[in-house]
Amino acid sequence: MEISVQKGAIISQVCDLLVLHAFVGEKELEGELKLVDEALAGKLSKYMKEDSFKAKAGSSFHLRTQGEITPKHILVLGLGKKENFDIEAIRQASAVSLNMAGGIKAKTIVSTIHGNGVGELNVADCAQAMVEGARLAGYRFETYRKPSKTDVQVKKFDLFVTNAKDARLAEKGIDSGNLFAKGTLFARDLVNTPAQDMYPEKLVEAAKEIAKGKGTIRVRVYDREALKRMGAGGILGVAQGSDHPPYMVHMIYKPKKATKKRVALVGKAVTFDSGGLSLKPAEYMMTMKVDMGGSAAVLGAFSVIDEVAPACEVHGIFAAVENMPSGKAMRPGDVLTAMNKKTIEVLNTDAEGRLTLADTLCFAVKQKPQAIIDLATLTGACVVALGEEYTGVMSNNDVLTQKILEAAETAGEKMWRLPLEKNYRKLLKSQVADMQNIGSRWGGALTAGLFLEEFVNKTPWAHLDIAGPAYAERDIDAYTKKGATGHGVRTLLTYLKNV
Ligand code: BES
Ligand code: ZN
Ligand code: ZN
Repeated sequence: MEISVQKGAIISQVCDLLVLHAFVGEKELEGELKLVDEALAGKLSKYMKEDSFKAKAGSSFHLRTQGEITPKHILVLGLGKKENFDIEAIRQASAVSLNMAGGIKAKTIVSTIHGNGVGELNVADCAQAMVEGARLAGYRFETYRKPSKTDVQVKKFDLFVTNAKDARLAEKGIDSGNLFAKGTLFARDLVNTPAQDMYPEKLVEAAKEIAKGKGTIRVRVYDREALKRMGAGGILGVAQGSDHPPYMVHMIYKPKKATKKRVALVGKAVTFDSGGLSLKPAEYMMTMKVDMGGSAAVLGAFSVIDEVAPACEVHGIFAAVENMPSGKAMRPGDVLTAMNKKTIEVLNTDAEGRLTLADTLCFAVKQKPQAIIDLATLTGACVVALGEEYTGVMSNNDVLTQKILEAAETAGEKMWRLPLEKNYRKLLKSQVADMQNIGSRWGGALTAGLFLEEFVNKTPWAHLDIAGPAYAERDIDAYTKKGATGHGVRTLLTYLKNV
């Protein structure tokens, strides 16, 4: 799908579908809506009234133009009340136009820029959101099947502007939107790929492929022998049961202009989580290819980092492993020694993410970043606490937390802070080692967060438990369909842009 800016007269746009919008409570038709209505001799307003179209959020009104103006179809999207309108509503609206286009077999769309001039929204931000919504809604994962015959793909999606200044800003927004969507879709593809084809080595390849030909990115890979020398007992312990060897991947992005600012992005990269000897029930295992979703978010961000060009140095780090049961697998009761020499009693081999992250976080701390952000599909408990759409944020630093929550809000990814309650640390006390890898039955997301905190020393750090939103078990909204979501990528990119 090609996305560009269109100027000229709204009624002579050459397209299958012209998308306009309306807000609740507007007495008179305004702007483009008015021009189109006039060109259609008042039919648009007449039919909208007859159908009692009130422009409620999520509602829409469709009309065939029967050759009276060049666009074949008109779609008016209801955007709700102006005061409730935000950037996420723009993504959704744009996604809706793309979804509706399929139904009327439209291949070309011209759309007004929703939200332009509302509150503090500027054309560039609105255009970016529109591109994200459209591209994410247009995503299909068809590596393992024939494309559906009834699925009409939109070829051209144009954003309509009325003046040269808006055109320039819209172009800028389109560029950002393209990059943010590209990064997100990159992550979706990685997660959607079945674990038979997405094993640790493949994540290493993905990292190398991203860095190829880009002067700003370097990649270092540590294999099993190197991990042994580093004392990465957590990673090695989890990988023990699998026929796929483990790797730690360290990507480094250095901006063209030298800087002292440094951020580390850490991702959980369990390419399949069977639970290990503490085997998962069949029901819970079905979607466990998602367990590398944290690393997919990091790789997604890195896939476009050169072009987004944040001003800080960024380190992307993950330990790619597969968690399998076998005669070589680690057992409940085994004791592992992490990179910082802390010993861990493994009471449940299904709490494996924190074992791999323990070492990975130690490694991240050694890079001396001013902030570490980890993303991990870490606990079912987080999904119980916040539901399927929210990421749980746990952090030892209020400023960092605030920045991440703000970035998430802008990016349209739902995140909510959870406490790192120090009174719960006692739940991780072990009889035989420095700590154990599971807490009690309750507050599982928090004890997992507290476990990770043991490995970051005093470095400002935020842990994003993305177990719920990394994978949609059902359609969530206009651009988040069943399957991998690429959750986290847009928050990371927004955060990095602001550092
Ligand atoms: N990968 C799972 C967490 C998960 C659950 C991710 C649902 C995505 C969706 C993790 O490794 C795990 O199994 N956690 C256990 C921890 C428990 C054994 C303390 C869990 O949440 O049940
Ligand atoms: Zn697990
Ligand atoms: Zn896991």
